[in-house]
Amino acid sequence: MGLKHGGNVSAAAERFGIPVERWIDLSTGISPWNWPVPPVPEAVWRTLPDPGDGLELIAATFFGCAPEAVLAVPGSQYALQYMPANIPRGKVAMPQRGYAEHRAAWMQAGHRIIDYRDGASLQKLVDAAVVDHALVINPNNPTGELLGQQQLQDLHQQLHGKGGYLVVDEAFADTNPDHSLSPLCPVPGLIVYRSVGKFFGLAGLRLGFMLAPASLCHALESTMPPWQVSHPARWIGMGALADSQWQLEQRHRLDTAAERWLQTVRTIVPDLNFCGTSLFVSGTGEALYCQGLYQSMGRRGVLLRLFPDIGGQRTIRFGLPAPAVRAQVEHLLRESVGDCVCACG
Ligand SMILES: Cc1ncc(COP(=O)(O)O)c(C=O)c1O
Repeated sequence: MGLKHGGNVSAAAERFGIPVERWIDLSTGISPWNWPVPPVPEAVWRTLPDPGDGLELIAATFFGCAPEAVLAVPGSQYALQYMPANIPRGKVAMPQRGYAEHRAAWMQAGHRIIDYRDGASLQKLVDAAVVDHALVINPNNPTGELLGQQQLQDLHQQLHGKGGYLVVDEAFADTNPDHSLSPLCPVPGLIVYRSVGKFFGLAGLRLGFMLAPASLCHALESTMPPWQVSHPARWIGMGALADSQWQLEQRHRLDTAAERWLQTVRTIVPDLNFCGTSLFVSGTGEALYCQGLYQSMGRRGVLLRLFPDIGGQRTIRFGLPAPAVRAQVEHLLRESVGDCVCACG
């Protein structure tokens, strides 16, 4: 059985008895605006992917790193799932709340997991040399915590000084280039994952990248069957990563929409503590309340993502609503909060 993720509308449709086409899916952190994909030329469908087509060069320019550090993968999920097996077994610091696939992958590869709550507690674990490696999701999904470049660089130096690795998942980092370690790559002891799914709104394309020293890129590449990244995925990826004008507009659009969305949910749901990124906002609070709100929204056909109970607290992630449904979602959220006040209050 796989782990639970956002975006599973069919399962929600069955659970709540509402047809798939009536759902508003806010359960992921994928942009509601995607890079506009032009018609894919027939030749791209007809022919095998060409590793010399220039995708890695274009990606390196976008990430600000050296081209030899870049490995294209079928979604950053591929890299984060199979890379831990290539890292010397040890103790790895892992965010207590974070994209759960990391934990599963490191455990599967035989590492020992040491939880951390936030950047400050991670720093303590590394200062005290309790861990060999650290996994940071920056910004973190779902907590939204964003670590600064300097702290990450210091953590990398400390870990690498003892032969360890810093692994940074930058799947949601495209609107925070100032916080990214991608421009340092390749450097020994540092691995960065990037996704084309979230900021570009192209999750269905299954394209991502690992940025790492060449030996690690080769190690991961050797686990992949040939042509794992399809020719259309490479072709569309090149277009999206090279389109700096659209990227500029998208950053502005996402920043504006996310700021407004954060204000809105804070006002409508005062019982939760909110933290925002440019691609989603997350509210944390009393577990029963979160569960009630998730259910109320579900009964109204709005899918949110509810995270597990840790110490009596749960987190709900609210993806950005598309402009066409924003007013409707706000109305349904007000109604749902009303339900929770009656039922839980
Ligand atoms: C933090 C994080 N990293 C990586 C991924 C994997 O994304 P993808 O394989 O689409 O690049 C996800 C998916 O939700 C995620 O939340």
